[in-house]
Amino acid sequence: MSSKILQRLENNSQTVERGMERFLGKTDSDIAVLFDSMRYSGLMGGKRIRPTLTLEFCRALGGDEEAALRYGCALEMIHTYSLIHDDLPCMDNDDFRRGKPSNHKKFGEATALLAGDALLTMAFETACGDSATAGCDIAAVKVLAECAGAFGMIGGQQLDLDFEKGAPEFDLFLKMNALKCGELIRGACLLGCIAAGKKDDAEIMKAAESYAYGVGVAFQVEDDLLDIGEENKTTFLSYMSEAEARAYAEKLTADAKAAVESFDGEGVLCGIADYLVYREN
Ligand code: IPE
Ligand code: IPE
Ligand code: MG
Ligand code: MG
Ligand code: MG
Repeated sequence: MSSKILQRLENNSQTVERGMERFLGKTDSDIAVLFDSMRYSGLMGGKRIRPTLTLEFCRALGGDEEAALRYGCALEMIHTYSLIHDDLPCMDNDDFRRGKPSNHKKFGEATALLAGDALLTMAFETACGDSATAGCDIAAVKVLAECAGAFGMIGGQQLDLDFEKGAPEFDLFLKMNALKCGELIRGACLLGCIAAGKKDDAEIMKAAESYAYGVGVAFQVEDDLLDIGEENKTTFLSYMSEAEARAYAEKLTADAKAAVESFDGEGVLCGIADYLVYREN
């Protein structure tokens, strides 16, 4: 991994951190616990991969970074809400997230539920911006809604629940991953293109989707490789050996890189694809 890419990722994640601080900065002292709960998960230090993709697609295409930051942070709020709800006792019942107590362990289930709801709705408010900013492309709002919804991430979460009864055919397992984890990544890439004013450029939008698909599935395969032996659930390793999974992730990464070659001038998108498949957490 080149140190140039790592430095760039670090800079991006600081930009996103400042953006999240700004967008999650408003509070109401009478409802402080809700805002504390939203900020607890929103600012607890994830990798910020999705907003990073939004920023870098926008940059590669020469677009307006302020819009990309708003769209990226909006998506990160949706990602954060999905993790808060995912950890709840009625879902995965996880006590820890990113090495810290999960939201409901700290704030209780009811507030965790509401913090998730509030982050989801705040995402749309954030994407829209205010009169002081450059405005919002309605196409961005649609992408956010689609990738987060029943035909997107939520649909994937439902399939994941269904699979607790037993491992599905590989194709359906792949669909679950493409929705549960892949859709927000697809949204991230498309939002970067939209921020750069490319929503009507079918070739670029399609390239972004191809990249997102390869990176998204490779990301999940890598997640399963990193989590080996962690829990007894269906993963890519239920269908293939470790060596096959690694080769599969590398092939997906190569396809993702090929899809954006024509506009990835500085090679940052390719660098991110490599980072995601060779990452250590
Ligand atoms: C975790 O996503 C949930 C999945 C979709 C696999 P990330 O690995 O991006 O989580 P954070 O935000 O960096 O913690
Ligand atoms: C979480 O998926 C993905 C979403 C919240 C959409 P998992 O349940 O497989 O991931 P972790 O292990 O909790 O991060
Ligand atoms: Mg889950
Ligand atoms: Mg989980
Ligand atoms: Mg995991």
